Amino acid sequence: MNKLLVAALLVALTAATALAADVVTYPAKNGTVTFDHKGHQAKLECKACHLSEGTPAKIALDKDKAHALCKECHAKGAGPTKCGDCHKKS
Ligand code: HEC
Ligand code: HEC
Ligand code: HEC
Repeated sequence: MNKLLVAALLVALTAATALAADVVTYPAKNGTVTFDHKGHQAKLECKACHLSEGTPAKIALDKDKAHALCKECHAKGAGPTKCGDCHKKS
């Protein structure tokens, strides 16, 4: 691989990482859920949530997927598991 291609790949990877939002909000009828991506990133490995191989990319969540991902880890770790600790009515 030539140097230019390597440089281009590095730029692409850096750009992809920089694209991850710091905070993602999920509107829900029982109260908006705020997910601090940056805060979770600081504590956990990417692959704790980004289960597929390769560069972490957008994870599409619906109610069931979100509850499976978020609540399962919180149940064995330190995060909130009560409805109202994630779903906040404004
Ligand atoms: C606690 C779970 C969790 C961890 C740990 C985590 N992510 Fe994510 N990440 C998510 C979720 C959920 C989304 C989807 C957010 C959305 O809908 O925009 C996401 C989205 C992303 C996206 C796509 C952003 C977009 O809008 O396209 C990138 C890139 C990303 N994460 C990178 C990383 C990297 C790099 C790490 C490790 C340093 C990491 N993530 C760690 C849960 C996590
Ligand atoms: C792989 C483990 C893991 C996953 C998956 C995960 N979390 Fe967490 N989360 C944690 C841990 C650990 C804490 C506790 C942090 C602390 O007390 O310092 C936490 C804390 C939180 C908190 C409390 C406030 C904060 O940001 O520190 C909220 C809200 C939260 N998580 C929401 C979510 C949501 C929403 C998802 C799914 C999109 C999610 N988490 C997925 C591990 C996880
Ligand atoms: C760890 C955080 C977390 C906890 C705890 C949690 N949820 Fe959720 N929930 C979410 C996320 C994130 C979504 C949004 C998924 C999406 O965007 O579709 C969601 C979506 C929902 C929805 C769909 C709302 C809509 O407008 O489509 C319902 C209903 C719901 N949750 C009920 C509950 C109930 C009831 C509890 C307690 C037993 C609970 N949730 C606990 C994170 C959580």
